[in-house]
Amino acid sequence: MAFSDFATAGLELRSLARRGLVPIVVFVTAAVSCALLYDTLMTSSLRWPLSSPMGVAVDAAEPADQLEMILRAADMGNKTVILTTLNDAWAEPGSILDLFLESFRIGNGTSQLLNHMVFITMDQKAHERCLSMRGHCFDLNTKGANLSEQKDYNTPDYLNMMWQRLDLQRQVLEKGYNFVSTFQDTDILWFRNPLPHFYAEGDFQVSCDRFFGNATDLENWPSNGFNYVKSNNRTIPFFKYWYSARTKHPNDHDQTVFNYIKHDAFLRELGLTIRFLDTKYINGLCEIRSRDWNAICTMHANCRVGLSSKLSEMRGMLDQWRKYMSTKH
Ligand SMILES: *[C@@H]1O[C@H](CO)[C@@H](O)[C@H](O)[C@H]1NC(C)=O
Ligand SMILES: *[C@@H]1O[C@H](CO)[C@@H](O)[C@H](O)[C@H]1NC(C)=O
Ligand SMILES: *[C@@H]1O[C@H](CO)[C@@H](O)[C@H](O)[C@H]1NC(C)=O
Ligand SMILES: *[C@@H]1O[C@H](CO)[C@@H](O)[C@H](O)[C@H]1NC(C)=O
Ligand SMILES: *[C@@H]1O[C@H](CO)[C@@H](O)[C@H](O)[C@H]1NC(C)=O
Repeated sequence: MAFSDFATAGLELRSLARRGLVPIVVFVTAAVSCALLYDTLMTSSLRWPLSSPMGVAVDAAEPADQLEMILRAADMGNKTVILTTLNDAWAEPGSILDLFLESFRIGNGTSQLLNHMVFITMDQKAHERCLSMRGHCFDLNTKGANLSEQKDYNTPDYLNMMWQRLDLQRQVLEKGYNFVSTFQDTDILWFRNPLPHFYAEGDFQVSCDRFFGNATDLENWPSNGFNYVKSNNRTIPFFKYWYSARTKHPNDHDQTVFNYIKHDAFLRELGLTIRFLDTKYINGLCEIRSRDWNAICTMHANCRVGLSSKLSEMRGMLDQWRKYMSTKH
């Protein structure tokens, strides 16, 4: 059974954590003193790139501990972080990552959010790029998969990557952290802080390709490229259940499988509350409703195939935002 597999994986992680304990104390101490020294040397106005050299110490810890340390460093103060993934193809200079970062720079009150963002890096090059900009970087490639190329939709490698990410999200929840995830997906531009638009109730909140006006209606078309998940005793079993459903649907990705399981009795019995985020705020190119630039927080360059098409859409959206903002001054 898939559930016992989970239990075994959990035990392994815990024993890794125990074995890594002594080095961690040393590394944390080293990291803290380095950070203090560094902060004293650097100007205090430097907000991004981050001013703390986390990457150096974190690289030497066991994977399970790395995650814990990185989450702690990226915490907003209430055990909430932002997760995103990064691969080589998208981390190239002038590619998607640069447009993604540009949106945080020109967005309204978004630049400080980068301090709470954890980059899940898929390969060595992406990891190096992340470290070079002093981000919070977690190397997913520790499990040995080669995920460096831009994956064609629904190829086995692409699928593996999607499911690995889902599995990592489950680990983040188990460590007690809520997350906003732009997992795919640095192909989402952030123009405003979306956090104020999350529902107070709602364990699992997900963006939509199409939103029909009712946040609780399971017939909305979810897009798992952007979600907000609270860590609690409903979401953790839900993520395990979701991941284990893969065995029944081996050729589908997580989002499709979500649609298969969303009506399952297991979810009702858990009492999991699902909310669909209004495309007025969490927007994307699939949505046909007209765009309200006074409201838009994030903009997903989805429903476009291929890197060059995504890039030109994203550049176009950044231009539209700049134009919109210039009318506001
Ligand atoms: C966590 O803190 C952030 C930043 O202050 C805030 O926007 C968010 O609403 C908080 N989350 C919760 C669940 O209180
Ligand atoms: C930008 O944020 C400030 C502070 O929250 C707000 O007063 C202002 O209206 C915002 N501007 C736009 C264009 O959203
Ligand atoms: C990863 O895969 C790419 C092609 O998909 C290949 O060129 C590269 O050598 C592989 N890297 C490793 C470490 O296997
Ligand atoms: C919204 O959807 C839920 C679930 O399908 C339903 O119970 C509720 O009546 C709907 N609300 C409205 C205002 O249509
Ligand atoms: C979650 O915890 C609450 C309070 O501790 C409890 O009442 C509830 O039954 C638990 N739910 C599940 C699904 O375990």
